[in-house]
Amino acid sequence: MKKILLTFAALSLALSALAQPQLREDNVEEVLKAMTLQEKATLLVGGARAAIVNGVTTGVAANVPGAAGNTRPIERLGIPSTVLADGPAGLRIQPTRQGDSNTYYCTGFPVGTLLASSWDVDLVKSMTRAMGNEVLEYGVDVLLAPGMNIHRNPLCGRNFEYFSEDPLLSGKMAAAYVKGIQSNGVGTSIKHYAANNQETNRNEDDAVISQRALREIYLKNFEIAVKEAQPWTVMSSYNKLNGDYTQQSEGLLTTVLRDEWGFTGIVMTDWGNKAGTVKSAKAGNDLMEPGNQNEIDRIVAGVQDGTISQEELDRNVRNMLNYIVRTPRFKGYQFSNKPDLKAHAALARKVAGESVVLLRNEAALPLKGTEKVALYGVSSVDFVAGGTGSGDVNKAYVVNMVEGMRNAGFTLDKSLVDYYYAYKAYDKAQKGLNNSGFSWFFSRKLSEVAIPADAIAAESKANDVAVVVLGRNAGEGADRKMMDDFELTAVERELLQNVSTSFHAKGKKVIVVLNVGGVIETNSWKNLVDAIVLPWSPGQEGANAVADVLIGKVNPSGKLPMTFPVNFMDHPSSANFPYNYQQGASRAFSWGPRQPQKDVDYTNYEEGIWVGYRHFVTRGVEVSYPFGFGLSYTTFAYSKPTVKAVDDGFQASITVTNTGSVAGKEVVELYVSAPAGGLDKPARELKAFAKTRELKPGESQTLTLKVGAYELASFNEAASAWEAAAGNYKVQFGASVDDIRATAAFTLKKAQSWPVHNVLAPQTK
Ligand code: BGC
Repeated sequence: MKKILLTFAALSLALSALAQPQLREDNVEEVLKAMTLQEKATLLVGGARAAIVNGVTTGVAANVPGAAGNTRPIERLGIPSTVLADGPAGLRIQPTRQGDSNTYYCTGFPVGTLLASSWDVDLVKSMTRAMGNEVLEYGVDVLLAPGMNIHRNPLCGRNFEYFSEDPLLSGKMAAAYVKGIQSNGVGTSIKHYAANNQETNRNEDDAVISQRALREIYLKNFEIAVKEAQPWTVMSSYNKLNGDYTQQSEGLLTTVLRDEWGFTGIVMTDWGNKAGTVKSAKAGNDLMEPGNQNEIDRIVAGVQDGTISQEELDRNVRNMLNYIVRTPRFKGYQFSNKPDLKAHAALARKVAGESVVLLRNEAALPLKGTEKVALYGVSSVDFVAGGTGSGDVNKAYVVNMVEGMRNAGFTLDKSLVDYYYAYKAYDKAQKGLNNSGFSWFFSRKLSEVAIPADAIAAESKANDVAVVVLGRNAGEGADRKMMDDFELTAVERELLQNVSTSFHAKGKKVIVVLNVGGVIETNSWKNLVDAIVLPWSPGQEGANAVADVLIGKVNPSGKLPMTFPVNFMDHPSSANFPYNYQQGASRAFSWGPRQPQKDVDYTNYEEGIWVGYRHFVTRGVEVSYPFGFGLSYTTFAYSKPTVKAVDDGFQASITVTNTGSVAGKEVVELYVSAPAGGLDKPARELKAFAKTRELKPGESQTLTLKVGAYELASFNEAASAWEAAAGNYKVQFGASVDDIRATAAFTLKKAQSWPVHNVLAPQTK
């Protein structure tokens, strides 16, 4: 009898297994119905944090070693585990595997700030199309990128990953980035949603922001990216926003993101979520990353005790299933592990070269390429391709400036090159650089080393020109400092001064290359030198790209995606930012109970919407280089523009002519000044931009730019609505925010308003 019963049980188990639906694109509801509570909770919690033990990856991301995380499989229902990996300057996976002689390097593309400097959505799209191919061919389903927080302050440690101080430029760049990656049938995760504008205490800091500043500055870029590109996923940030962790904010994740903007993908936490798992799930955070059993248990208990409803649970699970059926993993894509790294390196070089910002050029550039060059600065051998942290791509190589310059044909002063290499080797030996277990997190950068003035005097005789490379690295987990980082170090100042004195005494030029991740002070020293070339952290091929620019093989057409102020404190946000010029900002807080500390536990965004050029231009504060600024080896003339009303906004056309003697591209920036009265508005705001194709000398192109009435609107907190005032709008065409070349007008006949939900208000403390 017992035997019969057992056989019966086994049979019914087998039968029910047969009846279990296997996930398909068209049976999500059926699978959802077949899932147990335990399974549903499991799907909402990512795999455990991956770890590398003795060179072997453990944890759930083991199917692609070095990937940041994954989703849990439910084999019974044909639900595979999908793989998530960083971003944004390329795919980040482990480059070698134990017992495997193949390598798995990825292309180190330029950082986000450089992409934004291109102001070229097509260029960005073409690059991320290639990047997405690496994602696909290495078996990854979602790239955890782009990073797109606003550059609120120059010292945010992760600004290099992010695009701009302006939400329109940031949003358009993110949309282009997402479209390029997703054209491969893999996903993106726009991050960190939202207001993750500092690294100091990023897990706990409460960003206190007015609804207007939030809507117009810190959410606007995400709104554009979501509406224009529908990223598969959004990553909520670590920090709090107006009192709630963003991952637990229903207003942010459901009301605004889904109900108002129409987002249909999944939201995942940033890595390491909070205790309130159920609160996160309820708020609309579908996936906890990385996850652990506790969180599964909490969700199960939450459903059982009614803290989270069955509908809310099913909503998230449905989102997950809809995401999974889109993935290459689900579709059984046979990835090759062999993307075309050579072609991608060439692309990375092209993007970097074109996007270089030429800040200054007093008849110094381009060079011929045959000059004898005194190449100064430890960054010439310690070149920064990208920043540190999760965005650090494991690339096969980084071309440094010595190699880049030699590849271009220059003869370098050998004693200087030897000196810097020797210093690098010495420093590495002394400090064990790159060997520390914590090196992932912290900036690995050699500090500048002094060169005696008499040596510089001798070098100025023996060489034709001086190139000084100044470098900065930054990364995840810490903000930059004001002294010796934003400001030059004493050694750097002395180097610039001495090189300038000696070379200029002999009628020779001095060129500075800024290999930096973020804004530095330039006003006090820029007049000492003849040219300043800004390639940011331009990826593994960046030094070749810089050399291309130095010899004029590439005519740079980048423009600044942020302002270079005269002083750090000129940014109003500096009054509420955790810089600490004595210590690293990361050390400005301690663990354990203590009184809430300004800028560490909470940060008041007192400047409101007056971020970047909105502040500098409106209040007439002098800057070192304005937003949107960048020189070219040629010159451009702007025609008289035409503006006509279309739909509910306007369409503007302007013809740009190359009036110089070499081919080049020009970015045209369209700024609008709103009619007076009503809300206090910036003197001008960027509303559209376009870039010409490469124009030969004498050649022209007409650019057409469109602006809808909604884009003209500002956020009125009292009415909880976007409002576009009726009246005359001044339409300005600029080569930078401070260099308006042509003006026209547009009249909005009727005021318009777009009401939204009254959510995310700061809590009064
Ligand atoms: C970072 C994210 C990253 C994640 C996974 C976090 O620490 O903030 O940007 O995607 O780690 O590596």
